[in-house]
Amino acid sequence: MFKIAVLVSGGGTNLQAVIDSIENGSLKDVSIVKVISNKEGAYALERAQKHGIEAKCISPGSYADRTEYFDAMIEEIRASGADLIVLAGFLVVLSSRFVEAFKGKIINIHPSLIPAFCGDGYYGLKVHEQALKRGVKVTGATVHFVDEGTDTGPIIIQKAVYIENGDTPEILQKRVMEQAEWKILPEAIQAIAEGRVHTEDGRAIMEDKQ
Ligand code: GRF
Repeated sequence: MFKIAVLVSGGGTNLQAVIDSIENGSLKDVSIVKVISNKEGAYALERAQKHGIEAKCISPGSYADRTEYFDAMIEEIRASGADLIVLAGFLVVLSSRFVEAFKGKIINIHPSLIPAFCGDGYYGLKVHEQALKRGVKVTGATVHFVDEGTDTGPIIIQKAVYIENGDTPEILQKRVMEQAEWKILPEAIQAIAEGRVHTEDGRAIMEDKQ
């Protein structure tokens, strides 16, 4: 069984997509061993608990500094035995120690086609606001490995979504989630669990399922 830990900050619809994929059998031999939120009361924690998944809040505010906070996170995740860490709407910038501790074992879902609309300050609705402001006609979502930078790691999988006349950031966010994020996140996890993803010269290559 391939074990994953999911880090969240909010509603947790991406977490839900992973839970649903495991429960309906489309995501095989994968189990969520832990869900961790930085925010007390994040609905994602409730979603996990409803499905019998161990969930807890580890808040940066409870620690003297970022180093102590991330040390606690590293310890918690190591103890869970997770093979992969999935950032599913986790809004805390990772420390380099954390990234180093789980090198090549952290993935993130971002709601645009990287390298468009990504990097510092591009999160949540802001991403969609900027896409609409620029007037692009196609956007989408990306699952990528996490490295030291913001949204700079090797791209594993992307899916395009059309922008429609009259879209608001909220409408577009919902369409990107439904048509792209909730599909490619479980797909990327499955591929990694099956050993079908490797990196080469800073790029990720995902082999098709046989
Ligand atoms: C998603 O749009 C994800 O791409 C971004 O944050 C949002 C999280 O949504 N990183 P949810 O908590 O999974 O509903």
